[in-house]
Order: sequence, then structure tokens, then C-alpha cells
Amino acid sequence: MLVKQRRPRGFPPGPSPIPVIGNIMSLATEPHVFMKKQSEIHGQIFSLDLGGYSAVVLNGYDAIRECLYHQGDVFSDRPSLPLFMKMTKMGGLLNAKFGNGWIEHRQLARNSFRYFGSFQKPLDQKILEECMFFVDAIDEHKGKPFNPKHLVTNAVSNITNLIIFGERFTYDNCDFQHMIEIFSENVELAVSGWAFLYNAFPWIEYLPFGKHQKLFRNAAKVYNFLEQIIRRFSEGRVCNFPRHYIDDYLNKLDKSAGDLGTPYSRENLIYSVGELIIAGTETTTNTLRWAMLYMALYPNIQEKVHMELDSVLGSEKSPSLADKKRMPYVEAVLHEVLRFCNIVPLGIFRATTQDTLVSGYNIPKGTMVITNLYSVHFDEKYWCDPGTFSPHRFLDSNGNFVRREAFLPFSLGKRHCLGEHLARMEMFLFFTTMLQRFHLQFPPGTVPSLTPKLGMTLQPLPYSICAVRRQQ
Ligand code: HEM
Repeated sequence: MLVKQRRPRGFPPGPSPIPVIGNIMSLATEPHVFMKKQSEIHGQIFSLDLGGYSAVVLNGYDAIRECLYHQGDVFSDRPSLPLFMKMTKMGGLLNAKFGNGWIEHRQLARNSFRYFGSFQKPLDQKILEECMFFVDAIDEHKGKPFNPKHLVTNAVSNITNLIIFGERFTYDNCDFQHMIEIFSENVELAVSGWAFLYNAFPWIEYLPFGKHQKLFRNAAKVYNFLEQIIRRFSEGRVCNFPRHYIDDYLNKLDKSAGDLGTPYSRENLIYSVGELIIAGTETTTNTLRWAMLYMALYPNIQEKVHMELDSVLGSEKSPSLADKKRMPYVEAVLHEVLRFCNIVPLGIFRATTQDTLVSGYNIPKGTMVITNLYSVHFDEKYWCDPGTFSPHRFLDSNGNFVRREAFLPFSLGKRHCLGEHLARMEMFLFFTTMLQRFHLQFPPGTVPSLTPKLGMTLQPLPYSICAVRRQQ
């Protein structure tokens, strides 16, 4: 259970709370920035009062590595927040409690990524096929302004769709698009003030107003859609010949029939499918949308990307993963987008599995832990001038790509992102295919806002862009 006591003995210090609601109000705008500022006052490890329960916030690379890596087992749970309990009953995969159920679901998903990703054809070739649909759809705009959000979302989600359902969905599939839209709205609402209030005072469920009600309605619609689609794609299943993740899951479920301790269930299948779809879509889509925006904003950086693409690929050859080593500048740009834009600024909330001691502070079992990944990417100890967008920080003096230690967009430790490998493939292939064909620029006289839209992920506000065919 959550630590309900306000600041137990030896607990990290933190900002003074307001009676009843604690520090919730301070999280309304840019909570990651607020938390980094607080760490300059209270230290890298401090605490917040979230209206009757306490959370520990980890800031900067050193503190996050100490907890997530050196005390990996201790910091690998998810907090039993009322909202998460209501949404997934702490089952599924992403929100599952640390234990056997999580291990089994993570393994099953990882095996599916490997097996169904490369079923019949290598995964990079499948991604390239989607890249072609994607650039052809962009071409339909004929260089005129368009908002790339829906196109990028559809193309990216199709990669996880191939693994989960064995099929891609066409870009005009309104039902699927609507599901993704309201699911992604929930990713935003899950860290809204109303969500924190619901976690502190679950009885507000009975108030007829508030954004948490919207969140519940959206979730009901999403689960209903997923239930139907899972039923449709499991038709014709033949035991021992799984065609996709759903077949594989249902085979496991059949095999564990009668085992009272099994974590496999129809309900957990729905939760896992939903989590894989949204975790895979929202993040990679936002990274690519930011990458497009920054290319148009910095034509000199875009020009260097074009020069590298032209020298390695020319205009005809499609990019492949094997080309990645020969494209250090592209790699540097994508890494800088991930660092600078902080796609998942506060990670996914963690919790402690046992009492522990960190930097002299006592952190009891069940404490909610917030990992401020933004503060890692803006940690002055590890990054020079972190507030400047500069791909060069990932290059050495000879132009070779260099890995940087304090780079954690996928987090760290046992719960680190399961889809990192897949996401890296997608980002490289979508980005290179798009920039090989197009020059990106803003419609004349416009420069979009760089202020992110807040939520569990940071995404750009809607913007228009022109993708003009390149003459090579
Ligand atoms: C977890 C980032 C793409 C599936 C996470 C976490 C982060 C993250 C920060 C939290 C880990 C923690 O608890 O500390 C990203 C970014 C991506 C990306 C920046 C793209 C640029 C993907 C993709 C998939 C995926 C493509 C799968 C299709 C997951 C899952 C978890 C997770 C299942 C939960 C892991 C667990 O609880 O064991 N991701 N992710 N992610 N991600 Fe990703």
C-alpha cells in the first residue's frame, strides 16, 4: 500500500505543503521544471506531499542511477494509486506490481517483439514498408502545409499493430484512430491536477464533474474497443501456431487453465494490449513530431542531415539499419531530440518494494517514487549548456557518434522501457526515409510554439509544416 503518513521519520525533506492538498497545486504547470527547481533547494532527493500520501522525487543522474540501477530490485514496483487500481487493477504489464505477473507479461511481450517482429520478414523491412506508405501519404499534400500528427501516429502505431494483431491498419481507419485519440487524451489526463486529487481523495469519483470523469469514460470506451478487436483477431486461432501476440497470449491462458495463481486472464490481455499500443505509439510519435519541428526550425542542422543521407544513400537506395553506423550525424540529431524534448519527463511512477536507505534518508516500503528524467537531461554536472539544442554534443572531434552516460530517455533498471530497441529502429527508419525525400519547412511567415503540451508525455502543440520534394 501507499505510504499514507505525511513525511515519516528520516524521510527526505521537501517544500511546505498546503493543508489538505499538500503540494498538488504546484504540479499544475510543468511539474518536471518545478521539481528540478525544488531539488536546487532541498537536494537531489526530496519529497512531496500529494494530499495525504508522500512521494519521493529523484533528480539528476547520480540519484537516479543510485536508486534505479544500484538498488534495482528495491525501486522496481509501481505505486498502488487509486487511479492505477481503477484503470488496470495493477495487472497487465506497464502498471503491474513487481512480481511474477509482471515478469511473465514482460517476457511474453519481449518474445513477441522478437518472434512476431521478424515473422515471415525481418522487422526492419516491415518498418520500411510502413515508411513508404508514410512518405507517399505525406507526398499527397504536394508541399502544402499540413499537420503531421495523425499521419505520424498512424504510421508508428502500425509497427506495434503488426506485432500485436499481425496486421497494419489503413490510415483512414476511423475507429482505430478514435481509440488512439482518446487513449492519448488519457495519457494527458493521468497527470492532471484532477488525477492527483482523485489519488488523494478517491471519493471524488462520485462528484458528477471533474476531468477524472472524462478519464474514466475514455478508459471504458478504449477497453470496450480493445475487447472487440481482440475477439476479432483471435478468430481462427490454432493452438501452437500463434500468428501474433494475441494468439500467443491466449495459448498461454489456455495452458494455465485451472492454475489458480496464473497471472494470465482476458482482463490482463486487454490491459497489456492497451499498454503496448499506447506506450509504443505516443512516445515514438512525439519524438518524430519534435524531430520534424526542429528540422524546420534549424535549416542548417537539416542541411547536414541531408548531406549525410545523400553521401551514404544517394536518392535511390532505401535506408537500412546497417547504414546507421555510417550516419553519426543523424544519430546525434535523434539523440539530441530525445534529450532536449524529454518525451517522458517524469518516467512512469515507481514504488519501493521494501524499506531502504538512500543518501542517509529512510524510504519505507510502498513509497511512490517519481524519476525526474528531465532533470537528468538538463543536469549541469553532465551536460554543458543543456538548454541549447545541439546535436554536436553527441559527436567527437572527428564527427564520430559518442554515447553519453546521462542520457536516459528510456529510463534505467528493471522497469526500463521494453520497447527501446523497437523505438530506435522506428525513429531511425522513419526519420531517414522522410528526410531523404523531403525538405521540411514552416509555411511562410509562421514559426510554431516550442512550448510542450503537458501530460505523462511531452508533445508539441499542433503545428503545420510543408514537406517539399527535394531535388538531388
Ligand atoms: C516504459 C520511454 C517507446 C513499451 C517506458 C518508460 C520510459 C519509456 C521512460 C518508463 C520506465 C520506468 O518505469 O522507469 C520510451 C520512449 C520511447 C518508448 C522515450 C520512444 C521514443 C516504446 C515502445 C514500446 C514501449 C515502442 C513498445 C511497443 C514500454 C513498456 C514499458 C515502457 C511496455 C513498461 C515497462 C515495465 O513496466 O516493465 N518507456 N518508450 N516503449 N515502455 Fe517505452
